[in-house]
Amino acid sequence: MSRSPRLSPLLSVAALLVAAGAILRADDALPQLGKSPTKDVVAAMTREEKVGIVIGTGMGMPGGAPGGAARSDRQGPVVGHVTKGVPGAAGTTVAVPRLGIPSIVVADGPAGLRIQPKRDGDTRTFYCTAFPIETLLASTWDPALVEKVGAAMGNETKEYGVDVILGPALNIHRNPLGGRNFEYFSEDPLVSGRMAAAIVKGVQSQGVGTSVKHFVANDHEWNRNVIDVKASQRALREIYLRGFEIVVQDAKPWTVMSSYNKLNGPYTSENPQVLDGVLRADWGFDGLVMTDWFGGRDAVGQMKAGNDLLMPGTAAQQKALTDALASGALDERVLDRNVARVLELVKRTPTFAGYRKSDAPDLKAHAIVARDAAAQGMVLLKNDGGLPLAAKAKVALFGNTSYRMITGGTGSGDVNEAYTVSLVEGLNAAGVEVDAPLAKAYEAFLAEQEKNRPAPTRRFMLPPPLPEREVPADEVARTTRDADLAIVTIGRNSGEFQDRRLENDFELSAAEKALVASVADAFHAAQKKVLVVLNVGGVVETVSWRDRPDAILLAWQPGQESGHAIADVLTGRVPPSGRLATTFPVAWPDVPSSANFPGKTLEGPDPNAASGPFNRGDRAAEVSYDDDIRVGYRHFVTKGVKTAYPFGYGLSFTTFAYSGLKLGAPTFRPGLTASLVVKNTGKAAGREVVQLYLSAPGKSAPKPALELRGFAKTRTLAPGESETVTFALSPRDLASFDEASSSWVAEPGTYTVKVGASSEDVRQTATFTLAKAETLGKVTTAIGAGK
Ligand code: BGC
Repeated sequence: MSRSPRLSPLLSVAALLVAAGAILRADDALPQLGKSPTKDVVAAMTREEKVGIVIGTGMGMPGGAPGGAARSDRQGPVVGHVTKGVPGAAGTTVAVPRLGIPSIVVADGPAGLRIQPKRDGDTRTFYCTAFPIETLLASTWDPALVEKVGAAMGNETKEYGVDVILGPALNIHRNPLGGRNFEYFSEDPLVSGRMAAAIVKGVQSQGVGTSVKHFVANDHEWNRNVIDVKASQRALREIYLRGFEIVVQDAKPWTVMSSYNKLNGPYTSENPQVLDGVLRADWGFDGLVMTDWFGGRDAVGQMKAGNDLLMPGTAAQQKALTDALASGALDERVLDRNVARVLELVKRTPTFAGYRKSDAPDLKAHAIVARDAAAQGMVLLKNDGGLPLAAKAKVALFGNTSYRMITGGTGSGDVNEAYTVSLVEGLNAAGVEVDAPLAKAYEAFLAEQEKNRPAPTRRFMLPPPLPEREVPADEVARTTRDADLAIVTIGRNSGEFQDRRLENDFELSAAEKALVASVADAFHAAQKKVLVVLNVGGVVETVSWRDRPDAILLAWQPGQESGHAIADVLTGRVPPSGRLATTFPVAWPDVPSSANFPGKTLEGPDPNAASGPFNRGDRAAEVSYDDDIRVGYRHFVTKGVKTAYPFGYGLSFTTFAYSGLKLGAPTFRPGLTASLVVKNTGKAAGREVVQLYLSAPGKSAPKPALELRGFAKTRTLAPGESETVTFALSPRDLASFDEASSSWVAEPGTYTVKVGASSEDVRQTATFTLAKAETLGKVTTAIGAGK
C-alpha cells in the first residue's frame, strides 16, 4: 500500500522555505569560471551564450573591416565594437557575467602594441613603444635579446589592459616582394621559429598571451583572402610549418591565428587537417585558435576544424552557427569543445585575475630596449672605409628619408609611438654635426610636398611616396667643401593588402640612383667618403649601385629609436653585429619563387591589375609553390647562383678566426656536440654570429646543399679575445620529410657539419656518420590534396 506523505502545516511551511532556499541557492550556485570545472560552466551556458562566446565583438570602427567596407559587406556587419575598454584594440570576446566570464581584449601586433594613443575626454596618452620590425630582430641572431623585447612588449600589453597581443608573425620570406615581409623574420624556418619563441617567452613572462600568426602559408598579400596556395607536403613540413612547430613546442603560445588563404584546397581556418591535425595532434598544441580578421567563409566549417574563436565576429557568423545548431549540422559537442577552449584562455588572462592596469608602462625603460635591439640588428653590408665615423665628423645628409625616418611598416603591424628619433637628432646626440643649410632645404621641400600629398585611399594604405628631392649641382659642390662625408638614406615602406613592386621599390628609382651617383662623384673627387643607409622593411636590389658608396648600412626599419640606433652603429658605440636572415639576390628573377609570384587569378583578368598589385581578394586565385623547398639560401647555395649578399652575411669593424671544430663522436647520437673557438683577430671589439649548417648525404632524396641547424652569437669580444661555441644536434636536424611514409626520416651515411660566417662562407667542417636510416615519428596528417 502506498502512503502519500501527509505533512503538518508547520512542516509544509518549512518545506516551502527549503524549496525557496533551494531556488535561491540554485542561482547562487551557478557554476563560476575558475571556481567550478570549466565543463560545468559550459554546461550552464545557453546556446546563445555559447554562440556568442566563440564570436568576437568587433574592432571599434564603423563597418568594422580594415581596408574598407568590402569585407564587412561580404559577411554582414561586425557584432558590436570596442569603444570601451581599450580603444584601438583589434577585438574582444563576449562576457557572460552570470557565469563569472569577463570579456578579454586582444590587440596587434608584431612590432609592439597597437592601440589608440589618445582618448576623447582624457588628457592622458596611451603611446606604445615602436620596437624594430621583426626582420631586424631576426638579424640580431640573438634570441636572448629578442626575449627582452618580448618582455617589454608584454609589459605594455598588460599595463594597457590588453590580454593577448596578436603576434609574433612568422610567415616565410618566400619572395622579396611580400608586402608584409617586414612583419616576418626570415626565409629560414629555424631562425623564424627561434625568434618567434623568444618573443612568445618574453611576452608571456608578463602574464599575457600571444597569437602566433598567420597559420599557415600566408606569405604574400595579393588576393590573400581567397588565394589557394598549392604546396607539397615536404615544403610545408620543412619550410612553412617548421617555424610554427618550433614556437609551439618550445614556447607554448596561448593562441595561434589561422591565416586568410586556402591551402591545397580548403581555407586553413576551415581545415581540420591543419588545425586539429598538424597543430594539435602532431605538435600537441593545447591553446586556442582564432581566425584572422574576417578570415575564411564557413563559420560552421571553422568550428568543426577546431578554429575556436571567429574574429572580429559578424552577425552572419552568429546566424550561421545558430541555424546549424538548430538543424543539427553543427554538433553541440563540437561547439562545447571550442567554448571550453575560449574559457580556458579567459582563465589565464590578467582581466580574469582582476589585474588593475596602470595605463603607465615604463616607456623610458622600453625605449632603451628598443634602441639596443635596433642597433644589434643592423647589418653592415659594405665598408671600404668611412666607418666608424670619426669623432666630430661633419656630415651632409642627403635623401628624403634622412629627414623622415621610417620606423616600421603600415597596417596592423604599425605602432602608435610617442616619437621617432630622427637621424639628425640621433647624429647630433652622438656628437656628429649635420650640415644645416642642406637640412633646411630638405625640410622646406618635404613640407611643401607633404602639403600636396594625396591622402591614402583607404585605411592602412600608404599614400604615394614623395618624389625624391633633386639636389642642385651647386648644393652638392658646397656640401662637398663644407662636410667631411656624405650619407644618402634610401627609404621603403609597405604593409597590409599590397605586395611590393619591382620598379621604384625593390629596385631603386632613377632619381635615387642619380642622387647616390652624383653625391658619390663629388665627394670622391674631394677624397671624401659616402655612406648609404637603407631604411627599408624588405630586400632591395643593390648590385647596380653598390659600387658607388664606400659603405652601406642596412638599418631596416628600426622603430622609434631609429636615429639613435643608426648613430650608435655608425659611430661604433655599438659595433655592427647584425647578419642577414634573408638573402639579397643579385636580381629579382634569381629568386626561384619569382617565376610564380604572386600567383594567378582563375576568373579572367584581374580588375585591379591597373591599380598595381593591390587586390583585396574577391576573385578566385591560386599560387603554386613550385620552388618547393628551394627557398632562399637553400636554392642559391645548392644551385651555385650568385647572390648580392648571402644569408647569414654581415660585416663587423673587426675580423674573426674560427678554429678547432670538434665533434663529440664520429657517429651520430642524439645531442652530438660540435664545438669550436672563435677569436677576435682584428683591432676593434665585435660580436660574431656563428652558424652551423649541415649537409646530408642526399642519396635517398634531393637535399639542399646545406641547411642551418644551429646558430650562436658571441658576447662582445675585445681584440684578441676568444669564445668557445658549442652546438648540440638532435635527430630531427638530420631528417627531412618523407612524403611516402608521412614521417621524418634521417638517411644513413656521412653528414658534414659546416660552421661559418654565412651560408657562403664556411670556415670549418667535420663529418659524422649515421649507420642506419632512422624514422623519427610519423605524423598523422596530409594537408589537402597536395601536389
Ligand atoms: C591582419 C592580422 C591582424 C588583424 C587584426 C588582419 O588584417 O592580417 O595580422 O592581427 O588584422 O588587426
